[in-house]
Amino acid sequence: MLTIPSFDRTDKLLSWYDRHHRILPWRVTPTEQRRGIKPDPYRVWLSEIMLQQTTVEAVKSYFTAFVERWPDIEAMAQASEDDILRAWAGLGYYSRARNLKKCADLVAAQYDGKFPSSAAALKELPGIGDYTSAAIAAIAFGEPAAVVDGNVERVISRLFAINTPLPAAKVPIRALMGDMTPPQRPGDFAQAMMDLGATICTPRRPACALCPLNEGCKALGAHEPEQFPRKAPKAQKPVRIGAAFIAIADDGSVLLRKRPDKGLLAGMSEVPGSGWSARIDGDASIKAAPFAADWLAAGTITHVFTHFELRLSVYSARNVTREITKDGWWSSPGELGGEALPTVMKKAITAAIPDAFKRKQEKHQS
Ligand code: ADE
Repeated sequence: MLTIPSFDRTDKLLSWYDRHHRILPWRVTPTEQRRGIKPDPYRVWLSEIMLQQTTVEAVKSYFTAFVERWPDIEAMAQASEDDILRAWAGLGYYSRARNLKKCADLVAAQYDGKFPSSAAALKELPGIGDYTSAAIAAIAFGEPAAVVDGNVERVISRLFAINTPLPAAKVPIRALMGDMTPPQRPGDFAQAMMDLGATICTPRRPACALCPLNEGCKALGAHEPEQFPRKAPKAQKPVRIGAAFIAIADDGSVLLRKRPDKGLLAGMSEVPGSGWSARIDGDASIKAAPFAADWLAAGTITHVFTHFELRLSVYSARNVTREITKDGWWSSPGELGGEALPTVMKKAITAAIPDAFKRKQEKHQS
């Protein structure tokens, strides 16, 4: 497998970003930076707070309105919380707006209106966590901090074909992003990874032919980019066992009873069986039979409930005398289809009487 040196990858990504970066209202483009324009930490901070849990498209107009009204941190510190909350309305997660105001007040009062420049110090401020501190440090202050959002997670898990599913994969992904982030232009590098994830390395149908990193991409090499990031397999459902007894009278009636009013399949009908539940197995043997009869094994059925899988051993006995039990009732072949029988019970009865539920349907069809 071809591996490409990381400096090569960095160069390729940055030159792609120079040509294809998205124009966003909070961004200082590579050309502007070459002309000496530096990212304003206030604008970087504001945009990154707004972008937490909100899409780029949704944030654009809010960002523009905010910086027009409150062009710097002092202006925001002088604003009332109510005004900020009103202007924030529609962006959601209102604790972010309250923290925004708290952070503005604190930076204005204690930091002379200037944001601290390291990710570690930024992380101490209200509303600023791992992601946002790294993003501000990299974009506004040039610290080669590992900036990892959802887009970056996808790009890296594909580049390195990381088999560990998320969220456990976050640890190696952060380490790899840290290794890849260059000391020069770390903010552009982070934003290039974000843009790549948003426009090319998309969750479905990624445009690998256009990707500047396609040469060394392990997921593409394995022809399965969409299979990354790996998803954790759904938790296995516990398997429970039990028994179901199909007692059949000489006229073909089947013995049924009513389930308890509470719990699984509450109040529905069932055939006699052993006491299985989502948490405990029932006796799957013939010993669980409700009375003595010529019970014969009629196979096993499986039914998947929301929280467990049930495997029922089915036994049947024919020509059972009705007087053998006072529990429940005998349901004739014509009545069976109209009983409140859950699917699991229909499966069990069908194992013993294959056409038990067909007759009624045929009647309807004819
Ligand atoms: N999402 C979060 N921060 C971003 C940024 N600086 N550029 C593009 N998308 C982003």
